[in-house]
Order: sequence, then C-alpha cells, then structure tokens
Amino acid sequence: QRIYLEGLLGRKPPVPVHPEALEKAASKRMSPEAFAYVAGGAGLERTMAANRQAFDRYRLLPRMLRGAKPPGLEVELWGRRWAAPLFLCPIGVLELAHPEADLAAARAAARTGVPFMVSNQSSYPLERVVAAAREANPEAVVFFQLYHSTDRRAVQSFLRRAEEVGCAGVVLTVDTVQLGWRPRDLDLAHLPFLKGQGIAQYLTDPAFLGALDEPLEGPPFRPKPTLALLKNLLALRQTGKRYGLDLSRMQKAVRRFVATYSFPELSWEDVERVREATRLPLLLKGLLHPEDAVRAVDLGADGVYVSNHGGRQVDGSLAALEALPAIARAVGDKVPVLMDSGVRTGADAVKALALGARAVGLGRPYAYGLALGGEEGVRAVLAHVLAELELTLALSGVRSLAELGPHLLVRENPPPQ
Ligand code: FNR
Repeated sequence: QRIYLEGLLGRKPPVPVHPEALEKAASKRMSPEAFAYVAGGAGLERTMAANRQAFDRYRLLPRMLRGAKPPGLEVELWGRRWAAPLFLCPIGVLELAHPEADLAAARAAARTGVPFMVSNQSSYPLERVVAAAREANPEAVVFFQLYHSTDRRAVQSFLRRAEEVGCAGVVLTVDTVQLGWRPRDLDLAHLPFLKGQGIAQYLTDPAFLGALDEPLEGPPFRPKPTLALLKNLLALRQTGKRYGLDLSRMQKAVRRFVATYSFPELSWEDVERVREATRLPLLLKGLLHPEDAVRAVDLGADGVYVSNHGGRQVDGSLAALEALPAIARAVGDKVPVLMDSGVRTGADAVKALALGARAVGLGRPYAYGLALGGEEGVRAVLAHVLAELELTLALSGVRSLAELGPHLLVRENPPPQ
C-alpha cells in the first residue's frame, strides 16, 4: 500500500522497480569494470540466461475467492526468526558498487528483518559487518560464507571469528574451488583481488597475517613495471592504510591470498573437517545434484543451498530452479533447502518456494540497489521484492507459506523425456 501511495503523491521509487531497468540504471552509475564484474557470468553466459528461462517456464495457477487475508511472511530457520523467506546472498567485493559495501547491505537487510550473508571476499571484516547489522537491528541475522582455501589455519580462524561474533550459521560455498572463466572480466583485465579489494577478511585475520613470511609454492611473480601495475600498487597501498599494513605487507598478503585461494582438490573429507570444527549450523552452497545434497545431509550439514553461483562458474550447467525440485524431494524434511540464481522478483520467489525452497536468495539486484543508493537502494530493492512476494501470494489465494507447493505451478514446454 505504502509503495502505491507514494506513487499517488508522484514520488518515484528510489531505485527502478523493474529488474532490467534497475540493472540498466546501475550500469550507468558503475565503472565498466565494476559493472562487468557484477553483471557477468561464466563463458557464453548460457547458464545465466537459463536461470531466468527456468523461471519463465513455470507458471503460477492462482486460486480465487478463498476469503483469505494476505499470509504472514515470517519464517523460523536454524532457530532464528526471519521476517520473510528471503535473504541477501553472499557477494564479494561489494566496494565495487559502493564505498559502504557490506556495511550498507547488512544494515538494509537488518532493517528489513532478513538475513545477510557476509562473503568470504567481503570489503569489510566480518566483525564490522555484524556490528553494523546489529546497530540497525539487534536481532539481525548474519551468516558467514566461507571459501575453503588451502590455508587450513585461516579456515579455522575464519570459523572461530564467525562463532565469536555470533553468526547464525556458516555457508560453505563448494562450487568455487577455482574462479570460473569469465570473459567480461578477462577482456577488461579486471582483477579486483590484486588491488587488495575484497580481501578484508584476510587482512584482519591473525592466522593469515601470521603466515605472511612463510614461503609459498608456485612460481615467483616479478612483473615488469607498467603504468597499470603502478596504479594497482597505489590502490594496494591505499587499501593497506585502512588496515595498518604497509605496501610490502600488502603485496605479501595478495601473493598469499592468490597462492592459497584455489583449492580444486577440496573434497567431502574437508567438508567433514569443517563440520567437526564448528557447532554453528553448516550449509553447503552450490549444490545442483540430489546425490550431493543427500551426501551433505548424511555428513551432518544443517542446510542445503541450491545454486549455480548466478551462472558465474560452469557455463552450460543446469539452471538452479531446475535443480531444485529433485533436491527438495531427495532431502525431504531432513534439513531446510535454500535456493538462489536468477531470482529477480517476488513472483520468482514464490515459484522457488513452491518448488521446495524454504527461503530464496537475492544476488545481483541488491548489488545494483547498492550502487544506486547505498543502504537506501538495497532497502528499496528488498521492499519491492517483498511487496510483490506478498501480493503474489495473496492474489494467488495462498493463505500461508505452508500451503505453497508444486500444485500451485504449471510447467510449460516440458523438455523431451
Ligand atoms: C557472487 N556470488 C558469491 N557467492 C559466494 O558464495 N561467495 C562470494 O563471494 C560470491 N561473490 C559474488 C560476487 C558477485 C559480483 C556475484 C554476482 C555473485 C554468488 C551469489 O552468492 C549468488 O549465488 C548469485 O549471485 C545468485 O545469482 P543472481 O541472483 O545474482 O542471479
């Protein structure tokens, strides 16, 4: 109602409501490199497109005249109350969108009452992001997303930090043991990590910093001095100032981050070790195969998070929404299933919930909101999705979230059997 009434007064929404207009507006505000990093996907971006097409393939079949009030949106997951079955996905290097980055996004999520997932590659250290969220709302729900590098001491240390700040859970992302092949970034030679961006979590970690003088495997990196390199070094020095680290320590930190980040050998045994290392609820993010989901549950995971990383990793992989029903069936009631990749609207969220997700993650759209309006921009994006989610449920005759199920959907163009 409020959003419509604002319109009556001629007040335009703070950010465009239509997701494509939102993306377009953000593309004009952001640098070409920053926009390419956020908007881009792996390879020919076929999976990115498939994520969207999958939502179009399912149609809602609303019921009328059921005399129902709009349903409440509140859910309880892993012992915490969420105002709605929606959350902000972990997104790294948010400083590319806005200087307040994760702080602004976390505040926006907290004020809305939905969880924020702090990326392993955040632009502010976890402790500061959690503090910002709690300042906005003492009941803020914050998850920590972990990338398992080869630096096991840093992994352990990150887990301790997540426990100490009272995170609601750890989200271990398993689809990015190496960075995907992303042509837009490659063509622009855009490597934010090498400028020290998106490694705040490391630059404030005692275990990681304590190991900076240890020898590293791999060839030494002695590039010829070029203007671009000089610029990157200046940026690196600037970032270092924020953390009290001089240029030579920063160079060592970047070198160590790059040398330890990729971990293609990551396996179920490592997941088991993470499971044993923390009492926090553990979610596995990036699963597409039901057998992987079942194995995660058997191993003691508290949640399964269906995602293809917004099409940024394996080009040609299955759309996340298409992977969801089989995983939801395989997991049953054992643990909650989360889902992201391609969610753009409240109606999309309803479809994912109907196919078995207990909550749905919003990715790129909130980064665009952040670029356009900082915290207010993210809050507006969330408000728009939530308003449409509520409206879609009410207009579809859904009386409570518990009533959602595949019976609400019709699938068009079924693929050949
Ligand atoms: C991501 N994603 C991501 N995931 C993660 O686990 N850790 C991370 O650091 C990041 N970083 C990141 C950066 C950017 C710029 C994007 C767009 C995405 C993936 C993210 O959590 C989520 O899976 C996707 O964004 C969901 O897809 P949509 O909603 O963007 O289509």
